[in-house]
Amino acid sequence: MSARRFEGQVVVVTGAAQGIGRGVALELAREGAQLVLADRAQLVEEVAAEVQALGALALVSRVDLETWAGAEQLVAAALAAYGRVDVLINNVGGTIWAQPYQEYTPEQIEAEVRRSLFPTLWCCRAVLPDMVARQQGVIVNVSSIATRSIYRIPYAASKGGVNAMTASLAMEHAQDGIRVNAVATGGTEAPPRR
Ligand SMILES: NC(=O)c1ccc[n+]([C@@H]2O[C@H](COP(=O)([O-])OP(=O)(O)OC[C@H]3O[C@@H](n4cnc5c(N)ncnc54)[C@H](O)[C@@H]3O)[C@@H](O)[C@H]2O)c1
Repeated sequence: MSARRFEGQVVVVTGAAQGIGRGVALELAREGAQLVLADRAQLVEEVAAEVQALGALALVSRVDLETWAGAEQLVAAALAAYGRVDVLINNVGGTIWAQPYQEYTPEQIEAEVRRSLFPTLWCCRAVLPDMVARQQGVIVNVSSIATRSIYRIPYAASKGGVNAMTASLAMEHAQDGIRVNAVATGGTEAPPRR
């Protein structure tokens, strides 16, 4: 029997269209959450249909979370629909190029950091005013064991940044009743990226 640990809670999942984000969204739906599924890919509509088939609410937000404007739009949509965000799961990220560091171009390095650090920075910043005002909230950042791995230095640096902001934000907002944690995911079986 599935526990209903998220009954009535408003949960935002970023990068929900596939992979870990999709799996998290479906499990949250089974456990009673009301979801906001954020992704820039059209595929997220399919996940919304799967969530709804499980009997849960799913609002889709098609945004580019490499931008502050996208993060602002996501949180505004969540607040307009549900009036609050109880849990934010920052899942957007992922290595784009795996290769020795000296082979990365400056453009590739910037693209990796934009993919794997900025979405979490932007979304935390966007959601905090609501959580601080209500003196409660939970943020879960999806990090990686790759902070100590080779051939993906810009990704490792980005996830190291995610870990640093997780610890620092947790301390900054403990007195506001906001918990901030990260999971350092290892190699995860997921269907090939679509
Ligand atoms: N898959 C693994 O083995 C593994 C291991 C360690 C950590 N992780 C981490 O887990 C998280 C999810 O990984 P995954 O493999 O499931 O990813 P994935 O590539 O399968 O899915 C990521 C989703 O994020 C979306 N996305 C990407 N950039 C976006 C943007 N700018 N705005 C909005 N949506 C955007 C994509 O469209 C996609 O649907 C990432 O943070 C990754 O670094 C994954």
